[in-house]
Amino acid sequence: MVVAQPIRVLVATQTEQVYEILESRSDVRYDIALYTGTIRDLLPEAQLIIIDYDDIVEYPLSEVELREQIFSAQVRECRSEDFIADPDSFLSGMVINRPGAMISLPDRYCLAFVSYSGGIGRTTLALDTAYYYAEAVNKFLKNRRVRREGVKLPGSSAMVVELSYGVSSLVSLTGIEMPSLMNLATDPESQLQVHRGVSLVPMDYDNVRMLAVDLLERYFRRQIEQHALTVVDAIWPHGLAEALSPFVDLWVVVASERPDTVANACKLREELAAAYGEDRVWLLQNQTSAKSEGNQQIPWNIRVPRVTRADELRGELGRTILSSVFAPLWTDIYDTSGKAGASKFK
Ligand SMILES: Nc1ncnc2c1ncn2[C@@H]1O[C@H](COP(=O)(O)OP(=O)(O)OP(=O)(O)O)[C@@H](O)[C@H]1O
Ligand SMILES: [Mg+2]
Repeated sequence: MVVAQPIRVLVATQTEQVYEILESRSDVRYDIALYTGTIRDLLPEAQLIIIDYDDIVEYPLSEVELREQIFSAQVRECRSEDFIADPDSFLSGMVINRPGAMISLPDRYCLAFVSYSGGIGRTTLALDTAYYYAEAVNKFLKNRRVRREGVKLPGSSAMVVELSYGVSSLVSLTGIEMPSLMNLATDPESQLQVHRGVSLVPMDYDNVRMLAVDLLERYFRRQIEQHALTVVDAIWPHGLAEALSPFVDLWVVVASERPDTVANACKLREELAAAYGEDRVWLLQNQTSAKSEGNQQIPWNIRVPRVTRADELRGELGRTILSSVFAPLWTDIYDTSGKAGASKFK
């Protein structure tokens, strides 16, 4: 598969059946080591170690020392006998996708740009990311080389959902008249507006706030299931967040270089991490200038430079973002779409 990272297994056993099983799996890459020193050196790369202590050579570490090394590396460990009995129970648990360390491109992913502060570029980032995703994946899918390899293909459908108050920024930024959430969620005839391959869900809060949260939640669930990437543009707090928050895989808290937006972002990061877990909240600094190094105290996950004519939504902001969130896999998509002539993304 092009769009997947193999599971890394370290094999420290002489049991042949283990090798036969691993050879038959296309999603696994394995290293063999029987000396304790070599095992120790390969541990940092491994996600699973299959080890029979009777088979290993205690040089230069003793068995006890090696056990300590394995324990502190937090690598999952099993004996060959247990592995052979049920390889899937060990290997399938390894396929854990984390933002920034993706093992396979998810079938569906929901990314929410969120902030207490206004005017820092949330809507621009959301639209740019969704347009860029749809365009890059479509180019990737058209590429002949990809078709020939018969790999697992990512979906190209993307959607932007707005969680805002007042007049819709989606409507004003795109300049398109379109049905908004009230209409979409209550009228079965109403169709999502699709623009540049992206479905748009603008919010008309004054109407939608009358709706029951579970009706909205059902609507969002249906739409999110039908799109490979959903990008949410959310001001926080928001009266309808509950309807959407169960589906969010990664909250990206947005700040600019203005100190008040940085302080607000750090505060919101804490709030969201407490509610949804540390791993699901990232910090993004937008509109960074070339000279600034960023505040070293703040662990920004993504820094997006200030670009000229950001409102043209040419995909350069989205590329920076997806290269981080879908790392290390996104380069497969981007490299291929680049070769297909994606001059806009250069
Ligand atoms: N990386 C960037 N480089 C240059 N300009 C940017 C960048 N990101 C956003 N902008 C510009 O910043 C302005 C504000 O952006 P945007 O409307 O997306 O912010 P917002 O956070 O959604 O604001 P609001 O709170 O009003 O919804 C726009 O003019 C946009 O073009
Ligand atoms: Mg906005």
